[in-house]
Amino acid sequence: GGLTERSLEIIRELKDLEGPMLPILHAIQDEFGHVPEEVKPLIASELNLSRAEVHGVVTFYHDFRAAPAGRHVLKLCRAEACQAMGSDQLGDRARQFLGIDFHQTTLDGAVTLEPVFCLGLCACAPAAMLDGEVYGRVDEHCLSDIVAEARR
Ligand code: FES
Repeated sequence: GGLTERSLEIIRELKDLEGPMLPILHAIQDEFGHVPEEVKPLIASELNLSRAEVHGVVTFYHDFRAAPAGRHVLKLCRAEACQAMGSDQLGDRARQFLGIDFHQTTLDGAVTLEPVFCLGLCACAPAAMLDGEVYGRVDEHCLSDIVAEARR
């Protein structure tokens, strides 16, 4: 169907690049909002790799989604500077507020929670991003405001 055809077009357009895998995966995600399971075998066969290799790359990088995102995407920084400022606890609170784990989307489709590794705001750790807008020095109070905003 359309998904296969469009995916093959994308893959064939990019497969001659040096290190084609990441550009292909990014292009697929841009097109479909996630990396559909069905596309992995297509990438594998076009690049002469095993499905396991493709799957390994998709899961290794935190950028790729296995399912479409919700209407809003909340990213919490999990990298070192933010961790030192309590981002683990913040992550726990976010999961509680939303009732989901990282890489999941609330049942109403409102919010997807994703980890991110450095937003360039280390001086204002811990950092978060909602739909491309960054927030620094996020405490629990601020987090609950951000979550409420996302749920509207
Ligand atoms: Fe979190 Fe840099 S480590 S913004």
